[in-house]
Amino acid sequence: MSNVNPISSEAVDAAVAHALDLIGKAADLAELKASRGAAVGDQSPIAALSAQMGKIAPEFKAEAGKLVGQARATLSAAYATREEELHTAEESAKLAAESVDVTAAPQLRPLGARHPLSLLQDTIADIFVGMGWEIAEGPEVENEWFNFDALNFDADHPARAMQDTFFVEPVESHLVLRTHTSPVQVRSMLERDLPLYVLCPGRVFRTDELDATHTPVFHQVEGLAVDKGLNMADLRGTLEHFAREMFGPEAQIRLRPSFFPFTEPSAELDVWHPGAKGGARWVEWGGCGMVNPNVLKAAGIDPEVYTGFAFGMGIERTLMFRNDVRDMHDMVEADVRFSQQFGVTL
Ligand code: PHE
Repeated sequence: MSNVNPISSEAVDAAVAHALDLIGKAADLAELKASRGAAVGDQSPIAALSAQMGKIAPEFKAEAGKLVGQARATLSAAYATREEELHTAEESAKLAAESVDVTAAPQLRPLGARHPLSLLQDTIADIFVGMGWEIAEGPEVENEWFNFDALNFDADHPARAMQDTFFVEPVESHLVLRTHTSPVQVRSMLERDLPLYVLCPGRVFRTDELDATHTPVFHQVEGLAVDKGLNMADLRGTLEHFAREMFGPEAQIRLRPSFFPFTEPSAELDVWHPGAKGGARWVEWGGCGMVNPNVLKAAGIDPEVYTGFAFGMGIERTLMFRNDVRDMHDMVEADVRFSQQFGVTL
């Protein structure tokens, strides 16, 4: 037996340092557990020193026992502390991951937007409802009689062809996709009491190719007033008010002589658009006139007692110069980004 204690305090310190290093390096509970054997368990230097206890000379036993005992106490405290630390860290990481921020804005699906044509149609309707007018609607698949005959178009009137009509098969059905909203004039006169002030917005159809300024399906708004003593001045005043509501207080209107079978006299309506992009200018807006006495008669109204005025314009066209929409494609392609520019008023 040597007279040197084989379990030196250096050896114990080295075993402790080794174990503390492993314990300190463990990044999570699993790693700490995995390193337990090598740090303080069977394969650890401190265990190897303990194993020598039985073999050393009796005079060293007390000192060696104390050294190893203290080392073991230090290490088990260090292990427990680290275990607690890692446990706390893992718990709070888990809580943080599972936490819900009740103040956070929820992920909403993007809202759609109402189509600017519908919005404009509503705006126009509001202007007339504000003057006490009623809104009237009629079918899109219309009887030829309402679309043409009752409106004073002769059977072979060129205007029938001029209007590029979609005829519905079979031809004997005498049904067409209405080429304008004017048939609602006749329906309104037949269905409603006099005096009559109606606005008829709706979809109409013509055999046009889709291009920057045309579309085979578009919208019109028709106005019809039938009362005692109505004249061109009433028509003018109504259109002027409408134009100013649409295009601002500086808007003006101009009537140019024209022809429609269902009005006499007839006029093309131009509007002076003060806010036009590229400078104020006259733009063709629609058609109008005094209701032709033949049309009043077709609807059973005595033209000697009543007179009427009517007007009609395209809503797409109105939107185009009111909001500087350059291409009809934007209005028919249903890209929500186009509609969103006009605001989402649901
Ligand atoms: N219906 C005519 C068109 O589509 C417009 C119009 C309506 C003209 C009312 C006069 C009176 O062209």
